[in-house]
Amino acid sequence: MSQTFVRIGGWGKYLPDRVMPNSELAELVDTSDEWIRARTGIGERRIAAPEETTCTLAVHAARSALQQAGVEPEELDLVIVATCTPDYSNMPATASLVQHALGAPRAGAFDLNAVCSGFLYGLATGSQFILNGAYRSVLVIGAEVFTRILDWQDRSTCVLFGDGAGAVVLQPTDQPGGLLSFVLGSDGAGACSLFVPAGGSRQPASAETVAERAHYVKMQGRDVFRFATRVLPESVKQALEAAKLSTEDMDLLIPHQANTRIIDAAVRRLKLSESIVFSNVERYGNTSAASIPVALCEAIEAGLVQAGSTIVMSGFGAGLSWGTAVWKWQG
Ligand code: ACO
Repeated sequence: MSQTFVRIGGWGKYLPDRVMPNSELAELVDTSDEWIRARTGIGERRIAAPEETTCTLAVHAARSALQQAGVEPEELDLVIVATCTPDYSNMPATASLVQHALGAPRAGAFDLNAVCSGFLYGLATGSQFILNGAYRSVLVIGAEVFTRILDWQDRSTCVLFGDGAGAVVLQPTDQPGGLLSFVLGSDGAGACSLFVPAGGSRQPASAETVAERAHYVKMQGRDVFRFATRVLPESVKQALEAAKLSTEDMDLLIPHQANTRIIDAAVRRLKLSESIVFSNVERYGNTSAASIPVALCEAIEAGLVQAGSTIVMSGFGAGLSWGTAVWKWQG
């Protein structure tokens, strides 16, 4: 019997129409286009319309991915939504809303929260259902309306993030390639470096938590920066080693789009040519779990992904958490 491999049969992205340039942020908080560009590389971000939610963004991206894959929603076996900004904070899962909106009655559905590493966790998880023969069509989505958990009075965080969604359809194939290796990691000691203090079981929502603005993201930016510049190159090396490859074998690196300085530091540490590193952080900011699937779509659209390309995707973020996958594109 021939071996089963996993392939990405379809991909799709959705970015809300509304563009918020740095100049607009400078009207809200004490910041400037120069500061934001110099420290982060971000020029603008997308903001979801009031009627849009993580589910609606996810559904747009998912429909494109399904169409591309030639898969009908009725054929879907599983929907995984990686997000830290679900439509409802506790229940139900956003994935159930997406499954219903798509019209995918056969599909199981669950959310997965590994924050900015979420898409990598979803890709590794979804692939297992294909590789073990359980399922034939798995939709993995990274979707966020991150701007709804931002404190628009806090200049140290509100300039960094944006909204968006990206999706892939995973399918079995006998063509060798697909997921060659993955590394998933976590260090909960750094949990409070990037977190939303209230609204969970530790500090349930109350009038006080709202008054204290404790439902918004708090971040120790320097701690996260140090963590990210260490873990990104380390996990890329580990994942390549697990695939018995080296940096010379890489055709494309798609890092989590958090900050140009983090990406540049990783490029230096890994001694990579900048030409193999994809970045769109200038246009979208940090879209958390959506950043890597959106970047993958844009890399494909730009003709950077060919049959046989070795792509490394690497995410990092709150948790602290990280995830890296080496993917051989089958075409
Ligand atoms: N505009 C102007 N000044 C600012 C702004 C702003 N938007 N934000 C902070 N400053 C000020 C600070 O108040 C500080 O002023 P002070 O010296 O008078 O106290 C000064 O700029 C320097 O602040 P730092 O925090 O030291 O600036 P730093 O060089 O570290 O850059 C940044 C801050 C961009 C946040 C950086 O630390 C970073 O990129 N960290 C990683 C953040 C990240 O990527 N997080 C997401 C991870 S993914 C996820 O899971 C969601």
